[in-house]
Amino acid sequence: MRLECFECGARFDINERIYECPRCGGLLEVEFTREELKRNLKRHPLKGDLRVWRYRAFMPVLDDSKIVSISEGGTPLVRCGRLARELGVGELYIKFEGANPTGSFKDRGMTVGVTKALEFGVRTVACASTGNTSASLAAYAARAGLRCLVLLPKAKVALGKLVQTVFHGAQVISVRGNFDQALEILRQLCAERRDIYLLNSINPFRPQGQKTIGFEIAEQLGRVPDRVVVPMGNCANIWAIYKGFLEFRMVGLTKSIPRMTGIQAEGAKPIVDAFRRNLDRFVPVERPETIATAIRIGNPVNGPKALRAIRASGGTAEAVSDAEIIEAQKMVARLEGIGIEPASAASVAGLRKLLEAEEINRDEVIVCVATGHVLKDPEEAVRISEKPVEVPATRRAVERLIG
Ligand code: F0G
Repeated sequence: MRLECFECGARFDINERIYECPRCGGLLEVEFTREELKRNLKRHPLKGDLRVWRYRAFMPVLDDSKIVSISEGGTPLVRCGRLARELGVGELYIKFEGANPTGSFKDRGMTVGVTKALEFGVRTVACASTGNTSASLAAYAARAGLRCLVLLPKAKVALGKLVQTVFHGAQVISVRGNFDQALEILRQLCAERRDIYLLNSINPFRPQGQKTIGFEIAEQLGRVPDRVVVPMGNCANIWAIYKGFLEFRMVGLTKSIPRMTGIQAEGAKPIVDAFRRNLDRFVPVERPETIATAIRIGNPVNGPKALRAIRASGGTAEAVSDAEIIEAQKMVARLEGIGIEPASAASVAGLRKLLEAEEINRDEVIVCVATGHVLKDPEEAVRISEKPVEVPATRRAVERLIG
């Protein structure tokens, strides 16, 4: 296995601690050959419960004794009949990532990222975050006994995520700016400070854990779905899931790749714009804004990877308004009993829009990735819900309201 530049193809040793290509500044990727993966699979066959480390063969880890895990992954793939009828599709599933230890898919990446931090022998890990990455990193750093440093955009992180980040003991710095600015500061800092290990998704190891969403979907469904719909923020997850399907096909476990479909919020949709205009490069959005604060990102560092995953798989991209996000979030909660945060609901809202525009065939087998739990953003959930009615403590008063 090796690190390979996504842009110029230059190759580097897997033990190099770099976050971007030293030659061209491009994004890095962990690459295995087919032979390596097959050999790894002989040594670490797929066995045991569904969870990230079931897929040890596909993980760029050198020392198993360093693995930091809270039993992440193995999340439910829920068939959604009522939602499918409402949207007018035959076979629809939600991959409920809210069921991970800290309530989002980020745990899949952090188990690998923090393991690599221990392999590299660092004592401090850091990230900029819209909230879920920081909640996850804080938990995994705590478990590994590492110092955790977090930069958050001031007043734009949902309450549940903030609670988790501080409660697990991270040092939190609130930046008067947005996520893109916070990440830029941290990238510059980590380029010079070798004592701090950067665990944002430009870190090439973290998305390796996120590949397991693709692996699990294929195994749970017993086949590859026609389409996977994913909300996009910093754009690592859609690429990681795509990569998972590519590697499963590479070793002959599956035969096809789903159409990767990426959804952004209207107020933060640089990748949707670039896809529609058929551009390779995207134009960053200066002041991203959306109720889905998790994906309130104007300059997604992994944008080029998302564009490749979408185009190479024959997928598409769509943007949804805050109103559409809220409607989808309520629909999933009330038709299926699955509580998801606004960013996650963007996938369902996008699917709905693409079906209405007849850009998606109604007999496709579709999986929407619900990236985070509703309790991540309790304030938004309360704000968009009916308020409880207060009554005196009498049976009559209660009965009057029940009707
Ligand atoms: N959904 C949720 C709930 C997220 O928290 C994120 C990203 C995404 C979707 C988008 O994933 O960035 O890989 O395209 N959250 C990051 C964070 C940015 O800091 O927690 P992506």
